[in-house]
Amino acid sequence: MSTDNGGLKPTELYELTRVAEPGAARILAKCEFKNPTGSHKDRVFSYMIDELEAEGAIKPGMTLVECSTGNGGAALSRVGAERGYQVVIIMPRGMTAERTRQIEALGGTILETAGEGFLLESEDTARAYVEKNPGSYFLDQSTNELNWRSWRLCGEEIVASLKEKGITPDHFICSIGTGGTFTGIADVLKDAFPDVVTTAVEVDRSAALYAKRKGLKFEHQAHNLMGLGPGKMPANLREELVDEVEIITGDDGWATMKRLISEEDLYVGPTAGGNVFAAQRLARRLGPDQVVVTVLFDSAWKYFSIWDGKYSDYETGSAAPTGPAA
Ligand SMILES: Cc1ncc(COP(=O)(O)O)c(C=O)c1O
Repeated sequence: MSTDNGGLKPTELYELTRVAEPGAARILAKCEFKNPTGSHKDRVFSYMIDELEAEGAIKPGMTLVECSTGNGGAALSRVGAERGYQVVIIMPRGMTAERTRQIEALGGTILETAGEGFLLESEDTARAYVEKNPGSYFLDQSTNELNWRSWRLCGEEIVASLKEKGITPDHFICSIGTGGTFTGIADVLKDAFPDVVTTAVEVDRSAALYAKRKGLKFEHQAHNLMGLGPGKMPANLREELVDEVEIITGDDGWATMKRLISEEDLYVGPTAGGNVFAAQRLARRLGPDQVVVTVLFDSAWKYFSIWDGKYSDYETGSAAPTGPAA
């Protein structure tokens, strides 16, 4: 099994101090946005390539295909080129220009699918692409369990940092897209600290797990927290590791991102903002002597072209899932 994290340096587990509120629990945030391509997804693909090469499923010279709203695409383009692969990234239309330019600069080829079909249409296109193109392989971070397994290494880094600081965490809270980040970290934290409580967070406009747990009808609506809410139950989420589920709005994520930039000097993106918003709400509920761990996914620069949080191709806003399950 691959254990070297693709040569990545461990990221800092940073305590939020300036946005900390009196009387609330402490919040420690894993700085994944500091990875080489500016996001947490750098964790995933060298691990997947190592494992798939060991199984004999892929070898250099082949074309690796992946669906992504941008971060996974950049991470795979970087590591794929280093390891001797062509990379094709299938993306829904309307992601930020920074993301598409980064993928192309790192040597990836982008195929766009319609914005309305979002990632589900990209996944159908990826399957059709590998059928038509021998020598290509669809990694499929959405369903491939190598995704969440790659996150165990990040979980181990968090455990090591907590032990170094002499801290036992009370709560882990993290939003879900594929569910890989949440699952790999939660798995390791629950082994190391059996009393830790976990909360998975979803964007209100695409909250499949929340709807399932509350017996509500699930409906995907376009939203502005790219990377979350793909329109289906995240296959890389191991549900038995989720103690609680909460929802946030896109506005919560964007507003908290701006506070993290101006008050903490943390240049992170809106889903990191969403994690901190949810962590702060929880920290108020838990009160002082408790510790909450969360994740800062990606970097602010990936969003400079849509700084108002409005994607031209996506109608956004806030809508909690309601109504009985169909
Ligand atoms: C910006 C951003 N935040 C959060 C996530 C969610 O991470 P995961 O897919 O591991 O659940 C993603 C996934 O693509 C992302 O790009």
